[in-house]
Amino acid sequence: MKLSSFGEKYTGQSGIVDLMADLGEALHTNPNMISMGGGNPSRIPTVEEIYRDLLVNLLSAPNGTYNILGKYQPPQGDEQLLKQLAQLLRAEYGWPITDRNVAISNGGQSAFFVLSNLLAGKYTDGSIKQIRFPLVPEYLGYTDAGLETNFFSSTRPAIDIIDEHVYKYRVDFESLEVTDRTAALCVSRPTNPTGNVLTDNEVSQLDAIARESHVPLIIDGAYGAPFPNIIFERVTPHWNDNTILLLSLSKLGLPGVRTGFIVASEEMIHAYANANTILNLACGNVGPAIAGKLFEDREVLRIGSELIMPYYRDKAMRAMELVIEACSDLPMYVHKPEGAIFLWLWFKDLPVHSTQLYQLLKEAGVLIIPGHDSFAGLDEDWPHTHECIRVSYAQDEEQVKKGIEIIAREVRKLYAK
Ligand SMILES: Cc1ncc(COP(=O)(O)O)c(C=O)c1O
Repeated sequence: MKLSSFGEKYTGQSGIVDLMADLGEALHTNPNMISMGGGNPSRIPTVEEIYRDLLVNLLSAPNGTYNILGKYQPPQGDEQLLKQLAQLLRAEYGWPITDRNVAISNGGQSAFFVLSNLLAGKYTDGSIKQIRFPLVPEYLGYTDAGLETNFFSSTRPAIDIIDEHVYKYRVDFESLEVTDRTAALCVSRPTNPTGNVLTDNEVSQLDAIARESHVPLIIDGAYGAPFPNIIFERVTPHWNDNTILLLSLSKLGLPGVRTGFIVASEEMIHAYANANTILNLACGNVGPAIAGKLFEDREVLRIGSELIMPYYRDKAMRAMELVIEACSDLPMYVHKPEGAIFLWLWFKDLPVHSTQLYQLLKEAGVLIIPGHDSFAGLDEDWPHTHECIRVSYAQDEEQVKKGIEIIAREVRKLYAK
């Protein structure tokens, strides 16, 4: 089969595709494997029940089946829903938003693909621009999103050691370079994979730098405010018309509906809607129909803040206790869990590369994500990039405890060699 350069790029070697295939294969070969690798949200029965009832009611309403299954959405998404989301954001945060500032996408991943390629890559004057991560590690799913190579550049973070086993990344503003090759700044807040939540101060500095440099600031709020709001710190959500905010229903427990939202300037929304129509024709209806109901009476905010956030906060705190207890004799630091659904563990001076640790843990019956692919765009050789792993605590506590014990046992053997 002969393939174009697009075809070659998207069928060629990719760290993430290989890793995902390997994770799937490992689960298939060993059904008892403790799975702490994936990004699936937890099953929360009370929340699942709400969605089930809602979907049944939607389908049994007059014209329900037709409305949900029988028609296409307009390019920007259902007008009524755009108005509802704009109204919710205006009321909640006072942001000056109308339905012209909002678009619906088939999930955050697809929205990021379209937006990042609208902004970065080759320009008609021959110049090439990149998306800049002001702080890595960042979301693994971005790594291969660019149609061009060298699509990302990134800045090494500063590290604040909080105590004997806890640390936090901070944007190193002194090293953050924004040049005429920069197309946009991009952060996830809370950050996948670390559970970091950029402080208000960091966000306002990034906002100022982005505006001075005439580039947008992309904030991926897949875990953030206003929903699912898996944030354990007191921080202020940010938006102005130089911000591109990405939201998603996935971590509310609805990854199967593939629905996300973009909140941006009218110009950006218009560009997005055009490109999305060419790529997807229209977004699905099921997620938007559920969202329409959830936005009524701001039920979505209640589900996030009262049912989902406390659930993950308790799990995060418990997992952190377990990991500190299990690794008390090891040079292990856990990133302070401030949001999202993962622990990020740093084994200082780890004697092997995190990929080898991933293999050893797989043989020992635990799946995690090795950390080095999360440092996209970082050109320097920094040992820290292969000393970290991402561990999901979305499983039940018994599994999480067992998994953490195996991780500590295997890592201890490595340091003892
Ligand atoms: C930071 C971040 N952004 C985007 C996504 C993609 O989410 P969606 O399911 O909406 O495509 C994920 C999924 O895990 C994520 O962690």
